[in-house]
Amino acid sequence: MGRDRVTSTTYYKRFRMEIDLAGAIAMPRLPGRFVWVPWQDSLIEQHAEVKYRSFAGEIDAAVFPALGDPFGCRRLMFEIRRKAGFLPEATWLIACAEGYVGTVQGVMDRGPIGAIQNVGVLPPYRGLGLGRALVDRALQGFRHAGLERAFLEVTAENTAAVKLYRDVGFRRCKTLYKAVAQ
Ligand SMILES: CC(C)(COP(=O)(O)OP(=O)(O)OC[C@H]1O[C@@H](n2cnc3c(N)ncnc32)[C@H](O)[C@@H]1OP(=O)(O)O)[C@@H](O)C(=O)NCCC(=O)NCCS
Repeated sequence: MGRDRVTSTTYYKRFRMEIDLAGAIAMPRLPGRFVWVPWQDSLIEQHAEVKYRSFAGEIDAAVFPALGDPFGCRRLMFEIRRKAGFLPEATWLIACAEGYVGTVQGVMDRGPIGAIQNVGVLPPYRGLGLGRALVDRALQGFRHAGLERAFLEVTAENTAAVKLYRDVGFRRCKTLYKAVAQ
């Protein structure tokens, strides 16, 4: 005899936010003990691990379950790397003596427009300006690639991220709903 599985759907409100990249973007500065690590193919696993450890248990891991799973993050990194518009200059790690602590990836989307993929900072290193620096560094990479606009999508209840993006200059241009079956 089969069993019925009762499923429910949660709708997460998400914002698409955009920014005009006209004008110079200042080189983001890191607190003294942190350094920038530019993209290399050999760092794909490190990006995946920092992504996983940043998103695990956070709201976006409920919206996108792959973000809350180490193998899901690895798969996402390989998908991002394979995209035709992958931009190494908008893809960065931040490191310190304890290891890698922050990640961001950028791609060129149809438009053309820069698309920030995932920004993540490990919990013990939050509130130090690293998230802001990662976003600014990705925007610089988009400018370097000749792009004039950039966008990202963010879950409305992720208030830290929404505030960060607003502070950088992103403005909300569309509200979307992401259905997640449970
Ligand atoms: C969002 C995230 C990247 C921010 O990283 P961070 O290094 O702590 O951010 P910063 O220290 O650079 O903070 C920059 C700004 O973000 C906002 N911010 C960061 N944390 C905040 C919090 N807990 N509450 C409110 N605002 C916050 C503030 O505007 C802050 O500027 P201020 O310090 O001048 O007030 C980090 O919390 C994270 O990795 N979260 C889990 C993954 C995630 O949700 N990523 C975003 C997906 S869209």
